[in-house]
Amino acid sequence: MTRTNGPPAPPSPAAADAEDQSLRIAYDDGVTDRTATLRVWRGDAAGGAFVDYEVPVQEGMVVLDAVHWIQAHRAADLACRWNCKAGKCGSCSAEVNGRPALLCTTRVDAVTRPQDRVVVVQPMQTFPIIRDLVTDVSWNYEVNRRIQPFTPAPGERAPFVIAEPDITRVEEYRRCIECFLCQDVCHVLREHRGQDRFFGPRQLVRIASLELHPKDTADRLAQLRAEAGVGLCNITKCCTEVCPEHIRITDNAIIPLKERLADREFDPIRSLWRRLRPVPMASSIPAADERVAAPARPPG
Ligand code: SF4
Ligand code: SF4
Ligand code: FES
Repeated sequence: MTRTNGPPAPPSPAAADAEDQSLRIAYDDGVTDRTATLRVWRGDAAGGAFVDYEVPVQEGMVVLDAVHWIQAHRAADLACRWNCKAGKCGSCSAEVNGRPALLCTTRVDAVTRPQDRVVVVQPMQTFPIIRDLVTDVSWNYEVNRRIQPFTPAPGERAPFVIAEPDITRVEEYRRCIECFLCQDVCHVLREHRGQDRFFGPRQLVRIASLELHPKDTADRLAQLRAEAGVGLCNITKCCTEVCPEHIRITDNAIIPLKERLADREFDPIRSLWRRLRPVPMASSIPAADERVAAPARPPG
């Protein structure tokens, strides 16, 4: 009998199965005759070990695809953080063959070792492990909160009128996707565990984006020297090499900040001026608890 009203009839088992199949990701599309062994670190804060998974290689496959294949076919409990699969959210940061990388933009073919067709995938080593490939990066957000945000002059309102070269310069810093690969590779944080005395390259990029903004009026140089520890950076440029947004972290953010600080502290004319003027210039650097409260963010 044909139903003419009421709730729709449930699909037959065969139709439901066909629909289920159509919703599945077609992992077999573009499969080649090649395989690769993904050597993935499995474990948590208590410890772990590398586990090998043989994965069929597809044309254009990225490491995140291979991780998804493992989750779908071999180990559904493999933990991996990701979101956009387009190199834009900064979530899938890990290490591939010991090098910090985004899993979603790293081609399997490009990183497969030719001698044994192995790709080693492990979590970022600078941050505490949560599970498998997932690390706890919350320290970066805590440090970020200690930086005074954008602070225009009182009464200054958006839209701001800014010369193009000035805004182009700070635009580079705004490309940061907070993947923290630069923090992961920096030896001050990674080898020397300097989290208590160094903010790391990502946060120096953020300070540069504010300090070099033509409409910002706050002074973060005292914080930069003391709390942020900019002097600990010895310009190795490792952070620049791993940045997926190609931000020239050392040349365009850290070195200008160091130069500003040197100008402030060691320039002989400024030094003479500090000695001659009645009010010491150091008083113009507000202490952390005296800084101007940031106004509400301008629209846009
Ligand atoms: S250049 Fe400085 S911030 Fe970048 S990795 Fe080297 S020491 Fe760290
Ligand atoms: S500066 Fe580059 S490497 Fe560092 S967090 Fe931003 S996008 Fe990632
Ligand atoms: S998943 Fe968003 S950057 Fe990789």
